[in-house]
Amino acid sequence: MPRGQLILIEGLDRSGKSTQASYLTSKLSPSKLIKFPDRTTPIGKLINEYLTNKSFALNDQSAHLLFSANRWELNEEIHSLLNQGYFIVLDRYIYSGLAYTLAKHDFQGEGVSSGGSKKQLGDIDWLLGPDKGLPKPDLTLFLTLDLQEISKRKGFGDERYEMEQFQARVKQCFLKVLPKEDNVQIVDVGGKTIEQVSEELWNLIVSKSKHIQTNNPIELI
Ligand code: TMP
Ligand code: MG
Repeated sequence: MPRGQLILIEGLDRSGKSTQASYLTSKLSPSKLIKFPDRTTPIGKLINEYLTNKSFALNDQSAHLLFSANRWELNEEIHSLLNQGYFIVLDRYIYSGLAYTLAKHDFQGEGVSSGGSKKQLGDIDWLLGPDKGLPKPDLTLFLTLDLQEISKRKGFGDERYEMEQFQARVKQCFLKVLPKEDNVQIVDVGGKTIEQVSEELWNLIVSKSKHIQTNNPIELI
């Protein structure tokens, strides 16, 4: 039996990624939506505390490693579902891991980052190290939009990282870390309705998934 496909939806905070990821999951069958961070696991609970409580003290390197450890908590489940032929839709994954930490490297604003040495945060090899060996997405769709539009969206500003100046850095960092490959697509969602974006993403999945070699085992990062 051919394996399933690993489809990653990445994007900035409030880019509509979770809405789109659930919709795509409902259109694919059999399918499972997996969201990172998964806040229900032992490590995910710590991450939730870190994101929602700005005085929770955790240095940037530790926070980075926790986000990766949270992906490892789901590693066996991802392999097992793919081997059973499931489409897995990921709502954030390794590129969020890289982009958000890299954005802290030279960011001075308050409330985002810990003090102390930030040398490692600018070192892509260091950042990617803990994710090495995780399953590599077959297709990545990155949702982007104008910063002014993001800050107007509902709920923006509730959690750590949700500030306009930091999101601007995150956007630049995503564009830097996303591989320039045909199976990594950047989709500008600005000014489009939810339905228009869904249709665009669906068309991309249909055209790209034909080229995914599901008789070969899933590649690893
Ligand atoms: P969420 O809003 O999609 O639940 O994600 C929570 C925040 O965590 C969001 O600001 C992005 C950030 N994040 C990281 O910093 N590193 C990671 O590896 C992941 C998956 C998310
Ligand atoms: Mg968020």
